[in-house]
Amino acid sequence: MRRLFAVFMVLLLIAGMLCMAGCNEEEAQLTVSEGVLTVSLSPDFAPMEFVDTSKSGQEQYVGVDVKLAQAIADEMGLGLVIKPMSFEACQSAVLGGAVDMSISGYAYTEERAQKFLISDFYKPEEFEELHMIVVRSEDVDKYKTAEDFGGVAVGAQASSIQLDLCHEDLPDNTEVVEYAGIDGAIQALKEGKIEGVAVADGRGEIEIENSDGELAASGFYFEWDDKATENIVLMQKGREDLAAYVNKVIAAKTESGELHQWYEECSDLAKSENAKNVVYDEKGEETGE
Ligand code: ARG
Repeated sequence: MRRLFAVFMVLLLIAGMLCMAGCNEEEAQLTVSEGVLTVSLSPDFAPMEFVDTSKSGQEQYVGVDVKLAQAIADEMGLGLVIKPMSFEACQSAVLGGAVDMSISGYAYTEERAQKFLISDFYKPEEFEELHMIVVRSEDVDKYKTAEDFGGVAVGAQASSIQLDLCHEDLPDNTEVVEYAGIDGAIQALKEGKIEGVAVADGRGEIEIENSDGELAASGFYFEWDDKATENIVLMQKGREDLAAYVNKVIAAKTESGELHQWYEECSDLAKSENAKNVVYDEKGEETGE
């Protein structure tokens, strides 16, 4: 009788443990709400994220990060919902739990690593290492070094690393101007309101190519450490359950070469007539800028 009781107790214990494991799993799934993975991004950063104006609804959001987001959602067996918003809002949405993650061309920074749970590094192409200043072609001889930007205005996107780089590496008397989107900054440059725009090399080259000779690369490139040339996905601290999927997909798509392939594909698409960098405000409304 006593032995039977002992067996019964052990069975009860095992059953309890199984249930707990099951319930935990269910809980983790439920935090990714209603069967969809929500991802914030600012689609003004071709080829990483931009808008294909020939499409509408969710389909209009394209780019390397959108492909990565889709692959993550597929891996999790969830639908994908892209939430477009300003680059700054993308990050606060993660912190506040309004979205599951943000995939928006984030370079690694120590500050981001402290604030967010960050994914493993992903790097769609080798040349995104440089950060440049785009200038008007007629001024290209004026701007060869960081010092040459002393006393003039240089634009960069709010909350971007290029903004930090401007503050750190350009002379103290450079006027650093923040723009919600890179397009607004490029427009201001063309209109002569500012003298340069600090952007990632890949993005800058696209602007130059699309400018019909109006814009060119200044002779100055920012110097920075290797880690910062890597891209990361931002998640809320504590969401290791999500990070596991993200890291698995990053590893697989890097290994298979798909990540690089996406970059090539999306760079071509970025040069097409339908490609547009669209800036959204905090509420996810399109702005004119
Ligand atoms: N790579 C830069 C950063 O990490 C700029 C990213 C901008 N991304 C965007 N979707 N607008 O800050």
